[in-house]
Amino acid sequence: MLRLLDAFCERLSASPLSQAIQSTDWVIPTVQTVHILAVAAVMSSILMLNLRLIGVRARSESVASVAARFIPVVWSGLPVLLATGAILILAEPARALQNPVFILKMTLVSLAAGLTLACQIPLRRDHEFWDGSSSRRRLARLIACLSLPIWVAIVFAGRWIAYVQSH
Ligand code: HEM
Repeated sequence: MLRLLDAFCERLSASPLSQAIQSTDWVIPTVQTVHILAVAAVMSSILMLNLRLIGVRARSESVASVAARFIPVVWSGLPVLLATGAILILAEPARALQNPVFILKMTLVSLAAGLTLACQIPLRRDHEFWDGSSSRRRLARLIACLSLPIWVAIVFAGRWIAYVQSH
């Protein structure tokens, strides 16, 4: 399995598109900058949403209204992160695809996206869902307290990839 991944990374790295990226100086820094700008947009929106879910910010506003403002930024930012991340992988496939921290990061991204959906879906049926009973407010707090450290761990993992050896 590892040998197969090895061969795949080598082939990808030798492809014309990867070679073109590798030989054009401005591509990687530009794509990294866009990746970081999207991280900033997603993380600030996640922070606002989760602080409201916990109940320490914008308590005069409903969760639905805060979610309507910030969740679209998350769903627009993730495809940008996916596209820019894919270009970074294409430039140096083994650096990410054979790196355990990258695998961890992708697992955490799926978990974090799932928790964002768990907050969003109930609001589609009932706008007051998270502002209702105290058990729902407790659940909202639990989702936020899980979600925030996971998003922060994703940022740590993103930066950490450069410092952990690929297999
Ligand atoms: C959705 C799919 C994503 C993919 C495929 C992806 C892929 C990548 C790749 C390949 C790198 C370069 C790592 C290196 O070679 O050193 C990177 C860096 C990074 N990523 Fe992502 N990423 C994604 C989502 C995210 C998300 C959601 C966040 C945080 C909210 C994030 C935060 C970062 C950070 C902070 C870096 C380090 C940037 C730097 O130091 O230049 N990424 N990502």
